[in-house]
Amino acid sequence: MGEYRLTVLPGDGTGKEVIAEAAKIIAVFEKFSPASFNITTIPCGGEYYLETGKEWPDGSFEHCRDNSDAILLGAIGWPGARLPNGDLAGGQVILGLRSGLNLFANVRPVKLFPGVKHKIHGVHKQVWDSEQVDMVMVRENTEGLYHALLRRMSQRAIGETDKQMVIESFPGLEGEVKWDARPISRKGSERVIKFAFNLAQHRQRKLGKSQKITCVDKSNVTRGCRLFREIFHEIAAENPEIEIDEAYIDAFTMWLVRNPEQLDVVVLPNMFGDIATDLASVLQGGMGMAGSANLGPNHMLFEPVHGSSPKYAGKNVVNPIATLSSVQLMFEALGYRHHDSDMDRCADILMQAIEEHFKEGGSVTYDLGGNASTSEVGDAIAERCEKLLRAEF
Ligand code: IPM
Ligand code: MN
Repeated sequence: MGEYRLTVLPGDGTGKEVIAEAAKIIAVFEKFSPASFNITTIPCGGEYYLETGKEWPDGSFEHCRDNSDAILLGAIGWPGARLPNGDLAGGQVILGLRSGLNLFANVRPVKLFPGVKHKIHGVHKQVWDSEQVDMVMVRENTEGLYHALLRRMSQRAIGETDKQMVIESFPGLEGEVKWDARPISRKGSERVIKFAFNLAQHRQRKLGKSQKITCVDKSNVTRGCRLFREIFHEIAAENPEIEIDEAYIDAFTMWLVRNPEQLDVVVLPNMFGDIATDLASVLQGGMGMAGSANLGPNHMLFEPVHGSSPKYAGKNVVNPIATLSSVQLMFEALGYRHHDSDMDRCADILMQAIEEHFKEGGSVTYDLGGNASTSEVGDAIAERCEKLLRAEF
């Protein structure tokens, strides 16, 4: 196994704290397994923008594009940090990379670990068995309602000026009107839906049980979604061994909460995926548990879904598991892409460490009803990894 070039972007607020725990875990794998990383850390985000007038140092986008096998991002977003045109400061990092590196599949696993309680009603209750919540949401990541903003951000990242889109008129509307186009393309839909089918097949092999794929859209109302669903059926016809289902996003939100056991792989257009994954995180114990991968043909970026949570920044209290799960996804994706069986083992071991931590009643942060600190949970997982790795390698 070679050395992987890893670019770490801690970003804003609690992003920095959870990234410190990720670094701790990665160091354990470097020490006790054949895994090896050449790490470059780049400051970035809204806070960095307020301090320096830049979202990240010049050349950072190029470094991510040309010198990174994987990118690990903490969180972007800080109160009051806006670009002169009102866009999110730091957007160049998260959105510029999604668009500029063609990271078209945003993969967000939703899994309730045994020993963790979901957060429906805002309190912890064990209603489902953990096996009932084990799905992966695949969010289209480069177009839809985000398209214009994504383009503005990737153009900023490569130093092009914003290209304004043509303004149409809206008959029947009066006074000031702002609007956002929601383009959905055949190519963009095909690639993410194919990815979702491949993932369903991969899970079928890995978990040894059949997987269903559900297409979620609003094809009863929008033309873009009609195209999305049409393509879903075309690709389904090429994959008859995968069971399919379909839902409109409104009804889906209800089924997601009521019958999560019926979902395996879910594929959604961009904005619906953004919304549905926050909702789904409640089933897995909250946003502190939600990791993600942003995957493209040549690049990959991993990040917790939760954001920078300014309210908790600097307090060492937020849950690092979403970030450690993102590192787990990184090991898995590197292993898969580079046919690296050592990396596959590292991915399994990190998953095992996280699972056993919860199963055996390990310490948890406030969001899961405990009072452990961010770094205490990170230390506990690191210790488990070390034990497992010493036995393995
Ligand atoms: C997410 C976030 C981002 C998004 C924001 C920070 C731009 O909510 O990753 O889900 O809307 O995609
Ligand atoms: Mn979101």
